[in-house]
Amino acid sequence: MNVSPSASAVLPPALPAGLPWVGLGLEYRKDPLGFFLRCANQGPVLRTRLVGTPIYVFNTSDAIEHVLVKNFRNYPKDLFQERALTAVVGNSLITSQGDFWLRQRRMMQPAFHKTLVATHGDVAVKAARTWLAPRREGDRCDAYTEMMALTLDVVAATLFGANLSAQAREVGQAMETVMLHAKFLFENPITLPSWVPTPGQRRFQAAMRTLHAVVDAVVARRRAQGGPGDDLLGLMLEAQAEDGAHMTDAQLRDECMTLMIAGHETTAATLALCLLSLARHPEAEGALRRELATVLGGREPTVADLPALPYCEQVVKETLRLYPPAWGMSRIAAEEDRVEGFRVPAGTVVAWSQWALHRNPLHFPEPEAFRPERWADGLERRIPRFAYCPFGGGPRLCIGAASAMVVTRLALATLLQRFRFESPPGPLPEFIAAITLRPKGGIPMTLRAV
Ligand code: HEM
Repeated sequence: MNVSPSASAVLPPALPAGLPWVGLGLEYRKDPLGFFLRCANQGPVLRTRLVGTPIYVFNTSDAIEHVLVKNFRNYPKDLFQERALTAVVGNSLITSQGDFWLRQRRMMQPAFHKTLVATHGDVAVKAARTWLAPRREGDRCDAYTEMMALTLDVVAATLFGANLSAQAREVGQAMETVMLHAKFLFENPITLPSWVPTPGQRRFQAAMRTLHAVVDAVVARRRAQGGPGDDLLGLMLEAQAEDGAHMTDAQLRDECMTLMIAGHETTAATLALCLLSLARHPEAEGALRRELATVLGGREPTVADLPALPYCEQVVKETLRLYPPAWGMSRIAAEEDRVEGFRVPAGTVVAWSQWALHRNPLHFPEPEAFRPERWADGLERRIPRFAYCPFGGGPRLCIGAASAMVVTRLALATLLQRFRFESPPGPLPEFIAAITLRPKGGIPMTLRAV
């Protein structure tokens, strides 16, 4: 017999109503990270309304596992998130749904096979060395911008076989404009149509033209060279040749944009925040330096060294815990469902925040403390699956997760062997919760030779 989920389930507790229609939208807009943190203390599942949309906030691993894994088909990506992301990357791997998504995912997966990801490590070491070459004792830099340039090199080389060093600044500035506009779209469900030439839309469109020109030039160069190759661009060109009807030039451009954006900004933020966290925690930095000295003795790291560098991995995991670049996620219930005993009506947006989940004192005592050691002895296996999920999970797990972990660890090991990254005293940066987490005002650091 088919039992309707609503038969015995009740609605979860509601947050205070807030303003008519807008609900808690203003509170959320002012401080999205704080909003989710406050929700975390109020129950496993909460019900609210943000600007006309009914939303459930999930605070438990089981609820998230239900959405991302167990009843994955009932929870496509939601329109709120789609609208902001789609404006930037069109209908691509990160935004698409159903059979179209599955076909793109299957086509791209081989480019992230572990033998190829191992080569991403060599590229990361080379990019870090290139970055280090002109640097001197006492140089100052914004680690966030600098790591963006470094990881753009890595993404361009590993996925597109291209060199974009000369365009790094231009791409970085365009990315900032695009991400802030996407945040604006995300937070303002009612905006003027995109053809109205407001200053903001003109800036956004100019930035998009810059990014499209960069991607188009990469594709044109590869086509001119002939021979697809086994990197991601090669796979996509091959798929297009076999199946042109599905993979149009516009589609190809959207996929390249997705990979370029999803791949380099997130990894850059992780690297820069690793450097900052180490600068603020000399005991952790000391432990990492001892590990690097023992295992590498001053030579360049390779992928083969990674198993012997567990503390380096713990530093990256702890950084991703405290500062998850993908700070929140959401889906929409296609049909009515039941989660944690509560009724989820069709059309409900379900949302959660890694920023809040990763600060649950039940799994991470003294959650605000940067303590890489907490990851020793397999913490990740002892806590519930989605208590820690910087890369999401289920069938839509980040396709670049393994690559990001290899690239971050090897770039970090290479940079630290040459310099100590000093951070001026004062409070940690504030974060802008755009589509990804961005440190407001960058991360100023001074290089000290070691
Ligand atoms: C520290 C670095 C990174 C973090 C924290 C991160 C985080 C995430 C998260 C949380 C998702 C799931 C989003 C959702 O399901 O709504 C995701 C998806 C995705 N990521 Fe990453 N990512 C990182 C690096 C990368 C890299 C290096 C690439 C590519 C080179 C990449 C490409 C993608 C793509 C294409 C998707 C969509 C996958 C799909 O829906 O099938 N990411 N990422």
